[in-house]
Amino acid sequence: MRHNVLGGKMNRGLTVAETLRILKRGEELSKEEIFKANLLGWCIEWLQAFFLVSDDIMDNSKTRRGQPCWYRVGGVGMVAINDAFILESAIYFFLKKHFKKDAYYVELIELFHETTYQTELGQLLDLITAPEDDIDLTRFSIEKHAFIVRYKTAYYSFYLPVALAMHMAGVKDEAAFKQAEDILLPLGEYFQVQDDYLDCYGKPEVIGKIGTDIEDNKCSWLINQALDKATPEQVKVLHENYGRRAEANVVAVKEVYNQIGVEGLFKAYEEESYTRLNALIAKLDHPLLSQDVFTSFMKRIYKRTK
Ligand code: IPE
Ligand code: IPE
Ligand code: MN
Ligand code: MN
Repeated sequence: MRHNVLGGKMNRGLTVAETLRILKRGEELSKEEIFKANLLGWCIEWLQAFFLVSDDIMDNSKTRRGQPCWYRVGGVGMVAINDAFILESAIYFFLKKHFKKDAYYVELIELFHETTYQTELGQLLDLITAPEDDIDLTRFSIEKHAFIVRYKTAYYSFYLPVALAMHMAGVKDEAAFKQAEDILLPLGEYFQVQDDYLDCYGKPEVIGKIGTDIEDNKCSWLINQALDKATPEQVKVLHENYGRRAEANVVAVKEVYNQIGVEGLFKAYEEESYTRLNALIAKLDHPLLSQDVFTSFMKRIYKRTK
């Protein structure tokens, strides 16, 4: 619990109470409401711990939040798989203990179950699009990338915290949840593109993890951009070096990224996304929602370096 739940940015967890505060604008939140919103926030951070412990095994990662990945800690090894399950189970223990008497208890449980399932489907697609023994870059496309990241990241990282706060605020209208989702999924897509960028260009001592996307043959935003712009010679270099473990292969891929100017393409994407997402937020008109929910979430992640 201490190794895996703590030490992150807590964007997801902090967003629940922040969203509830905005939705109940004007009204002072009771101590009980603040406690319960933060408890739901912690439930997402437990969910995050469950996903990260599993993800680091599957991605063969070395470090997480500046420490060795849990499965690499002495004496842990593959017991980490069961530890991940226990972290997940804790969520339902907390929900039962603190929400059983609330009218929206079942909504909370269903939302955690559905979001977990969506994330697992996203992780499945992420993994089967990146088989280590069958490198085939024609499998990748920017559309496939968008599909993968909405499932593996956007639902649990962006939709879930806001939807939980909406349930607490007593929102019942399906249309309000749909409008929120229509902004939060593209916002989550932008967040995962940043994650893909930081995997290659972020400072390990700042992001707390060592990138593995090139070695792991991942359908990352960067490789899709590179393939889109590459000359036939550069495509050949990418085909020969992507998805391989040796340092020389990774260097060769990064060299092509530099020739193509993938970093600059990301900076342009970041600006374009900021404008596009703000325009999407400005169109939001549901009376039970507030644009501030989304602008404040955006503020947390725009131009992030970790
Ligand atoms: C990492 O999420 C996994 C992704 C979905 C990209 P974060 O970057 O939010 O990780 P922590 O929780 O702050 O460590
Ligand atoms: C992981 O995406 C998403 C989930 C954990 C569900 P990544 O594999 O890109 O996350 P990092 O980069 O290891 O944090
Ligand atoms: Mn990973
Ligand atoms: Mn990543």
